[in-house]
Amino acid sequence: MRNATASAAPDRTPHKRAAIAGEFARVRAHSLALAAPLSAEDQCVQSMPDASPTKWHLAHTSWFFEAMVLCQYLPAHQPFDRRFFNLFNSYYESLGPRHPRPQRGLLTRPDAATVRAYRTHVDAAMGSFIATADAATWQAAASLVVLGLHHEQQHQELILADILHAMSCNPLLPAVAPAAAALSLAGAAPPQRWLRHEGGIAEIGHTGGDFAFDNEQPRHRVLLRPFEIAHRLVTCGEWLAFIDDGGYLDPALWLSDGWALVQAQGWRAPAYWIAQGDPRAPGPGWKVFTLEGQRPLEDAAPVIHLSFYEAAAYAQWAGARLPTEFEWEAAGALGGMIQLTGHAWQWTRSSYDPYPGYRPWAGAAGEYNGKFMVGQMVLRGGSLATPAGHARPTYRNFFPPAARWQFSGLRLARDLAC
Ligand SMILES: [Fe+2]
Repeated sequence: MRNATASAAPDRTPHKRAAIAGEFARVRAHSLALAAPLSAEDQCVQSMPDASPTKWHLAHTSWFFEAMVLCQYLPAHQPFDRRFFNLFNSYYESLGPRHPRPQRGLLTRPDAATVRAYRTHVDAAMGSFIATADAATWQAAASLVVLGLHHEQQHQELILADILHAMSCNPLLPAVAPAAAALSLAGAAPPQRWLRHEGGIAEIGHTGGDFAFDNEQPRHRVLLRPFEIAHRLVTCGEWLAFIDDGGYLDPALWLSDGWALVQAQGWRAPAYWIAQGDPRAPGPGWKVFTLEGQRPLEDAAPVIHLSFYEAAAYAQWAGARLPTEFEWEAAGALGGMIQLTGHAWQWTRSSYDPYPGYRPWAGAAGEYNGKFMVGQMVLRGGSLATPAGHARPTYRNFFPPAARWQFSGLRLARDLAC
């Protein structure tokens, strides 16, 4: 690999070494816990180009620390295997060539045990680095260590989304994470209430201090028109009404690109919904394939595994629209919205664009977010698969509008007369 400079965020958090060492151990252990129910075969499979094998996620998150921190700031560091810099670099042009993403599932070697050994090697080196780096080196590298932990948490959610997609391709519909997440709400969903926002100038974006990605900054002012936003997410029961009313059959509800996908892909329900009569899931009524295996559809549960196009079509059908990411953030700050996190990432009507004055981080970390700011939509909130403590009100998730394999749902909004 080239010796790229990899200085990161202008993060002014005092980097307490002991606290970061503890967080490092906790986050790294959680990745292994997510992989624990999976066999070596499970961990090698890649079900589509957009998804990655569990084993690759475990190795790539280790590569991140090795390439961004150890190779930059610890001259004596001995890489576990230099060939891994090619295998497990994701998309960092400044850090050298890489194995093609659609072919990650062909990497039967290194095997799962070797990837575990790679993690152990990186953990030991990082532990030593955090404990013994001199003050100037630590000052330069600490924000990259913190970035590496938030990066690994993002991959923890991807581990679950990607293995769910892989298992959905298996007619046995295996449960892979029996205790990963409870999809149901307690009891019935409360009747939807509309929360009124008078509009005006809203302050949007992260204020600094704690960690935030570069794409959440700088904080800036946005002018909002008066609007209302739903206090909760759209439920599976409500989505059934959309299906029963011919929502997937009426082009008038759909954006042009979305309608083309409905036709080409034969969409008739959210991803992972299983219609009555499907031989994989006998019995009456709709089923849903989840990390816990197939389950009866629960009317009160927030609907997930939607594309942006489906979310937008539903909003059209419901006489509403999707909120902009700015409306979502401003209304969330006022209180009253429930299910902000812990259920579904919420599609917004906002393109993933740089905030005014946005500057990518310096060095290789500058490739983290900025170069993806075209052709994608912003999702806000957090899902049942998002690691605890990872999401925050200014967090900007983003995916292409056709993506359905994420834990993505929606919350409605609508205009108020000025
Ligand atoms: Fe990554």
